[in-house]
Amino acid sequence: MLQLNDNYQKLPGSYLFSTIAKKVAAYTSAHPDKTIIRMGIGDVTQPIAPAIIEAMHKAVEEMSVAESFHGYAPDLGYEFLRNAIVEHDYKARGCDISMDEIFVSDGAKCDSGNIQELFAPEARIAVCDPVYPVYVDSNVMAGRCGTYDEKTGMWSRVIYMPCIMENGFVPEFPGETPDVIYLCLPNNPTGTTITKAQLQEWVDYANKNGALIIYDAAYEAYISEGNVAHSIYECTGAKTCAIELKSFSKNAGFTGVRLGYTVIPKALVFGGVSLNAMWARRHGTKYNGAPYIVQRAGEAVYSKEGKAQLKEQVAYYMKNASLIHDGLKNAGYTVFGGVNAPYIWLKTPKHMTSWDFFDYLLTEANVVGTPGEGFGPSGQGYFRLTAFGTQENTVAALDRIRQL
Ligand code: MLT
Repeated sequence: MLQLNDNYQKLPGSYLFSTIAKKVAAYTSAHPDKTIIRMGIGDVTQPIAPAIIEAMHKAVEEMSVAESFHGYAPDLGYEFLRNAIVEHDYKARGCDISMDEIFVSDGAKCDSGNIQELFAPEARIAVCDPVYPVYVDSNVMAGRCGTYDEKTGMWSRVIYMPCIMENGFVPEFPGETPDVIYLCLPNNPTGTTITKAQLQEWVDYANKNGALIIYDAAYEAYISEGNVAHSIYECTGAKTCAIELKSFSKNAGFTGVRLGYTVIPKALVFGGVSLNAMWARRHGTKYNGAPYIVQRAGEAVYSKEGKAQLKEQVAYYMKNASLIHDGLKNAGYTVFGGVNAPYIWLKTPKHMTSWDFFDYLLTEANVVGTPGEGFGPSGQGYFRLTAFGTQENTVAALDRIRQL
């Protein structure tokens, strides 16, 4: 009889955002008269910028003519997009990254889940706690995390680096040396970040200990402070210890369009083996590339008009972030984040658990957020709100919360 991958059976419950969607659906079907404001999943609400829509229309037209039709995309992505990425995301920041170190994909979520295929089953991973659930769940599926303790909410083989109010949400070097370190900065879910000098310490630590950093820079466009790195390759020595994941979802509203890329420097070599070559082999075998139309849309993100329009979009969401941050603070909440990231992280009031506060907010204010505990045990007693809503809904949600 077929033997299944029983690591899947070890996963507790369903994916965090699926659980929340189910809870909200149950509430709305029982209370069809209520208007729900969604500040849970970090999904964007502003339409795709005009310069990008124009590029997509043009690409659609090209597909209708034999001479300009495009079939399978090149393995690593079209050169026009990889070139724009190199010029704008790296060269412009003084980072020496070349086109053949960029792998275009249909989004950072898939890449962050798939990248663990490169590591041995014995590899020990270290994660910030709380953390974007994909990093841990995908390693559980691969049998790398040991057993789950329901009481502590922890996996026996995962190294947790608590990021809590007491340490300013800055991960500390773990007692045990990990093989792979996941860092998401600016951080999802806490909305906080670390300075470039602090990131340099992580790069030095990884190089010294022979560890690999998976650096998720999905929220890079939201950085407002000058001492924060936009790419890990701004740090000296990062090319020998770090992979960087980038998304077009949050900076350009592509959550439904799907586009991202992963940077694997050629200098990234472990045990004499190039990770760039391994990922190229994997990419070529398992993936047929993001659609031509979408890659043209990605290219337009870097055009003069595209950049200006997206700057406005990011400012729109960050206005929401400061409204939520200040509004909650004035209402007596303890709040973090929202300065370099579109997430606000708050302490639940009256020592409520994260899920109790979720239910309370849903039923009493008809506002949906994300319970901190869903991101890991150190998220207990915290709650996340996203700034990706419309300004009208953000203001309305704050009014409702203030009246609680
Ligand atoms: C989140 O809400 O944490 C993100 O939207 C999830 C994602 O980017 O996949």
